[in-house]
This record gives sequence, structure tokens and C-alpha cells, in this order.
Amino acid sequence: MTGPGHELDDMQLGNLAGVFDRISTVLRRGVHVQLLTEHRATMELLNVSHVGQRARLGRLFDGVEAQARSTNDDPDVALAWIAYSYTCEYTELLVKNPAPTGAGAPGEPHLMELRKQAMENVIAQRTKLLVNLPSITDALFAGTDKKVSELFKFRVAEGRGVPPQLPGGQLPAALASLRQNLAGSAFAPVQEADWSDSLGPNHKILRVDTRGSEFDLGGVPVVLVEGVLDPKLTQKTVTGGRVVLADGTSHRQVGGNFVGNLVSQRRLYAGDQVEYDTSHMALTLAGDAHWQGKAADWRIDKGGNRRTYYAEVHPKIAQYLLSLVPPDRDAITVLDIAGGNGDLAERIIRELGGARPEGDLRVRYVVVDYSEDDIAVAEERFAALAGTHPFAKTSALVRDVFDYEYDAGAMLNDVGLKAADFVINSGGLLNNQIGDDADSPQRFARMYANLLAPGGYGIYSGLTPLLVDSATHRKQGLEIRNLYDIETEHQMHVVRRPD
Ligand SMILES: C[S@@+](CC[C@H](N)C(=O)[O-])C[C@H]1O[C@@H](n2cnc3c(N)ncnc32)[C@H](O)[C@@H]1O
Repeated sequence: MTGPGHELDDMQLGNLAGVFDRISTVLRRGVHVQLLTEHRATMELLNVSHVGQRARLGRLFDGVEAQARSTNDDPDVALAWIAYSYTCEYTELLVKNPAPTGAGAPGEPHLMELRKQAMENVIAQRTKLLVNLPSITDALFAGTDKKVSELFKFRVAEGRGVPPQLPGGQLPAALASLRQNLAGSAFAPVQEADWSDSLGPNHKILRVDTRGSEFDLGGVPVVLVEGVLDPKLTQKTVTGGRVVLADGTSHRQVGGNFVGNLVSQRRLYAGDQVEYDTSHMALTLAGDAHWQGKAADWRIDKGGNRRTYYAEVHPKIAQYLLSLVPPDRDAITVLDIAGGNGDLAERIIRELGGARPEGDLRVRYVVVDYSEDDIAVAEERFAALAGTHPFAKTSALVRDVFDYEYDAGAMLNDVGLKAADFVINSGGLLNNQIGDDADSPQRFARMYANLLAPGGYGIYSGLTPLLVDSATHRKQGLEIRNLYDIETEHQMHVVRRPD
């Protein structure tokens, strides 16, 4: 099937979008969190190549399926393997050929040329690559190429997600095109009260702090951009938006696509500059029977489920927590509220053990949950860990957190802690679908703040939207370290109680 004459094969050109879906499914299958980087990088690269380099991209995949079938390999995995090989090749070329700097730097044409070259290189090696196709698909790409991770990964430093600095001038190019967008968009001044009224009672906002981005309207810097999202759609679809200027005025967008484009480029910003604010969403409750009846999976409206917790949310929480434990610290306490069956607890303890192999960090870890079934599983985990990770002293307690009546002192007393260095809420009482009423998330946020030791951190995430926002935390006197994890696109509030 390969070779001239088949370059513009109908299947390939007509169905490239379908091919992308299949590749995406493979890359995300059973995904270890570190593979999200590779997944993201590959899908971005395919999408950008689809614009302007579609024929060559078709050629890249031409005949791959047929060759895989002839050797009894999974065609989707084969397509993903070729796509991923393309990412690796492109990354390699990016490193070797940084964009020329200075006035009139070519930017996108330079990158397009590198993509062309990368595709040609992979096409030339395609048969060999397919022969080497690994057979264990779940771990297909783990650690295959460090450079991809290095170049595309968001780092977490001291509880904050930091975007990668890509070589080849991509970042300035993206900002330059956003500036053009801004110039081509129309805005009308709007008063704060009118803006709030227009949002309605049930809204979601994606907010980007743009200070330092050199956007301006009429010569006044744009310090904040807010995209209003469709509350009914799970995709972050922008239905309107505004910009806030350094002089305090607000301007609603009446034409153009600046707001939508800016919020979709949130990867350019750090985790404390982007806020996905769902605090005004209507409360929907799953009910106690749902949470305690463990036959029901945590299949939540977004198509996420328990597996998403284990593959994305938990590894990320662990990453943020570990980034906040100084190497000279010798003891920490963690209170994991509505901590389920202890999957996250086990992960954190194991990772802390890996980070401090001398065992010189003592960990006191308490999981509280009202599901007896979950706590029974957590107890089993902790019993197994006691042998291998003696530095961790663990408890798993069946408790209904409402029984504390929002009294942090009562909870600390009950679980036997003076204060918590870390309070974890992973799909807990701050999230939609968990508590009892609309008021409780705000009250739990206050209670969590009071559980914290001075200098301690709250880490709040999950799959259902958080019903608290950065303003809630500031009201408690907490500092904001992070709000959003760009890599997994989950809310990731990391807040600190001042010393
Ligand atoms: C979405 S699950 C998250 C579990 C766990 N934190 C994780 O990340 O895997 C929600 C958890 O909240 C617990 N839960 C709900 N309401 C609770 C309450 N009032 N007190 C204690 N636990 C509660 C449920 O039993 C369930 O384990």
C-alpha cells in the first residue's frame, strides 16, 4: 500500500479526524499520568499538521493499517505508534534547529519546515518502526522519549504548575497571534453590576490573569480575561466574555474571537494564572446511597469515573503534594477528607517513600470517609504498607464529616491530630454532588482552612466541579499557589495558610 500512487489514499485523507480519534484512544488507554504529556503533544502536533500539511500527514499513515493487519498487530496501536514516532522526531528536530531569533524571525514557517522534515523521516523509516511495534500496548510509550516529556511537560514547582518553554519560538508566535486577535475584536464598556446580571445564576467561567502578557486595549493593559462557558456543555465552550483593564474598567466582547482564543491558549499560563471557576454552578447531589453504595461506579456526568481518579487526579495530587515537602523536613501530617478507599493515600505514601528512601521523613496519614466498604479497603492497604513503609503511621476512620458540624477543632480532636500540614479534598465536600446543601462547600472551605497548621497546604481537586473559588480561599486568609492543572485540565486548588 505504501509508495507513490497511494499518497492521497481516500481513506487517509477523508478520515484523518477518525484516525486522530483512534490514536488518541490508544495514547490515553490505561494512561499513566506521565503519558498525558505525550498524548497532548502528539494530538497538538497532528492538529497543527492537519492545517496546511494534510497531504503529507495522509502519507504518514498510508498503509500503516494494512501492514499492521498483515502481522496481526492492532491497527490502532500501529497508527498511534507512527504518530508518536512523528512527535519524537519533531521534538528532536526542534531541539537541533531552534528558530532564528531577531526581527522578522520566521516562526511558523520554520516550524512547518521541521514538521515536513520530521514526517519525511518517519515515512522513510515506517516499515522498520512497525516491525519494532511493541506488543504490550498498555505500557507502549512509557518513558520512550525523555525529550518529549521535557519539552511539553508542565512542571510542578512548590505547588504551582509552570508551563514549558518550547524552543523554536512557539510561545511568542502564539502570543503574537493573540495580539492580532485582540486588535481585530470589538469591545463595549460594561458596568460590574450589569456584567454580573448577565451571567445568570448558573454559570462557569474560565479566567486568565494576563498581567505581563502585553495585551492592551486603547493603550491600557488587559490584566484579566474571562470567558463565560456554556453551563450545559462539558467541553469548555465559550459563549461570551470580557476583559478587565489595569484602570479597573471592564469591556464586554461584542465581536471577534479574542476571549475564546485566549482561554483556549491557557497552556501558555501558569497554574495560578488560570482559574476554572465553577463556584456558581447549580448544586446537584448524588446522595448518600450513591456514595456509600460501592456497586455504583463514580461515573460522573463528564464521562470521568473512578479510573480517571486513579489515572489522572490522584497522580497529580501526589505530584503537587510532593513538590511541597522540603528535602530537610522530617515529619508531615496529612488529613485526607472523604478519602475513599485509600488509593490516593497509598500512592502518596509510596511516592514519599521513593522520594526519601532513607526513611527520614515521618508521615502521619489519616483517611476519613463515611463508606464502611471503602474504609475496609483502606485498612487492608495500610496493613500491607505497614510492613514495607514503616515511616508512615496511618489511620482509616469511618466518619460522616457532617457530624463535626464544621468545627475544625472537633475533627482534629477526634482524629488525633494537632493540626494538618496537608488537607486533601479529592472529590470531597467542596465538590458538587457530594455534600448536603448549597451552603456547605463554603463552610467546609472555612473548616479546612482551620484544620491547617501555619504554613500548611490545602489541595482540592476532583472530577465534579468545585463549588468554591479563589475568592473563597482568600476570604479565609489563605494564599493561592495554584488553581488549575493545565496538563489534566482538572481544577487543582493549592492554598497555603500563612505562617
Ligand atoms: C468521588 S469519591 C472520592 C473518593 C476519594 N477522595 C478519591 O479521590 O478517590 C467521594 C467520596 O466522598 C465520600 N463522602 C461523601 N459524603 C461524605 C461525608 N458526608 N462524610 C464522609 N465521606 C463522604 C464517599 O464515600 C466517597 O468515598
